[in-house]
Amino acid sequence: MTEEAKTQAAGQESGPSVQKIAINFLIRFYIVFKVLKLYAENNQLIEEQTRLLMEELNRLKAAEPEIKFKIKQESIFFNQQRLKFSLANYHIFKSLLEEFRRREIGQLDLSADISRQELIKALSIFCQKRTGPEPFEAIQAELAGQQISSLSLEKMQASEHLLSPEKSSARLYFLSILHLREISDREKENQKIKLNTTRRLIQSIFNHLVDNESFLLGLTNIKNHDEYTLNHSVNVSLLAIALGKRLGLSRAELVDLGLSAFFHDLGKIETPLEILNKPGQLTEEERKIMELHPSQGAEKLVQLKEFRRLPISAIHVAMEHHIKEDLSGYPHFKIKQDINLYSRIVKVCDFFDAITTKRVYRKKVFTRAEALSLMLDQIGAEFNPIILKAFVQMMGVFPIGSVVLLNTGEVGLVTGVNQEMKFLMRPKVKLIADAEGNKIDGEIVDLTEVDMASQKYKRTIVKEINPDEYGLKVADYFLAQAEA
Ligand SMILES: [Fe+2]
Ligand SMILES: [Fe+2]
Repeated sequence: MTEEAKTQAAGQESGPSVQKIAINFLIRFYIVFKVLKLYAENNQLIEEQTRLLMEELNRLKAAEPEIKFKIKQESIFFNQQRLKFSLANYHIFKSLLEEFRRREIGQLDLSADISRQELIKALSIFCQKRTGPEPFEAIQAELAGQQISSLSLEKMQASEHLLSPEKSSARLYFLSILHLREISDREKENQKIKLNTTRRLIQSIFNHLVDNESFLLGLTNIKNHDEYTLNHSVNVSLLAIALGKRLGLSRAELVDLGLSAFFHDLGKIETPLEILNKPGQLTEEERKIMELHPSQGAEKLVQLKEFRRLPISAIHVAMEHHIKEDLSGYPHFKIKQDINLYSRIVKVCDFFDAITTKRVYRKKVFTRAEALSLMLDQIGAEFNPIILKAFVQMMGVFPIGSVVLLNTGEVGLVTGVNQEMKFLMRPKVKLIADAEGNKIDGEIVDLTEVDMASQKYKRTIVKEINPDEYGLKVADYFLAQAEA
């Protein structure tokens, strides 16, 4: 028998695993912590909740001789084990982590003989609001004052102090991917899916986006090739929420939009992997199968048991996200007004995320700037002009003063913007470094210029670069212009 099998067998004989008991204890701990904030110690609800907490504590004592919780790198450890919270209790984990951090508590040790009275006292000391400069020291002093010795604390290390919004956004991103994987597995097995969790995730994405849009959008650069559809769906959902926000949608609408975007490619569960991942061109037959995914997705959504909880726009988006503004694309739609606003938003985000991701069948991966300029070439035909314009602005046009790398290897400084929407990504730039990287006092070129022979643009922006890296003082150029 392998070690794992032994542990499993042991686990089956002795009930839930230590991991599970520790998590249950923390959930109870959190509940008591919360109710103590609201009620007096002798309240009946507290009585009941602490009794349940003690029950979990006793289970924990029976399982392990030592009871030690530690915060380390955004995780909670029980003794040496990192606790893995499920999506359903993830918010409790997050709140606990936050409460510990606020109080600078890095470690909590419970002695086996801690009494219920002591635990309640300690928890009521913990749960008080601390606004002073040294919350940890204040708590320690109060514990000592109450002579509570069967519980000891260690101060959090400075590096663990703040839950950086970046880290928590990143975690949220991966949680969403995890959740979507669970959904597609359950879907395949005809099991119930947890739409409440989906909604909660989308709501959290929305909240994070309000705080830190650029970082969350930066996350969409994560491209995991093996799980393309999962990554892609989360990216499209993030982009769609951010774009919808710019278009003035309300919070409730944005959550519906995010949910709809999240499921836009659900139909791909039905597309055979050989077609989905085929390198090279699809045959006519294969293309037809591939193009079934919008209607298959819509069908799947309608058949969900939780269908009622889904916004109706999810069906529209699944069905319509490959229809172009001029009504070509697939499936074929005759009446223009029939295309839902959310579908048009998702179409833009979907296209962008797709062409900026490396895929076996895609020879070229577009940079952000190249993708936006390609999309602008299709404004009106493939994409809705108002939506695309907002998207390009969100993803960053190049304002005057930005320094850009061109596909020729030259570096330019943006000195003027072309007003025409189509040329938003093609400003006028002053060349400041040649293809070899030598600084030059070059001419001002217009990026809309086309090479007559090849009928291609002479220069295209590859990306914006940090002027400091090139030792450039952008302000100098503009000052010089002002003085001239
Ligand atoms: Fe699709
Ligand atoms: Fe897609």
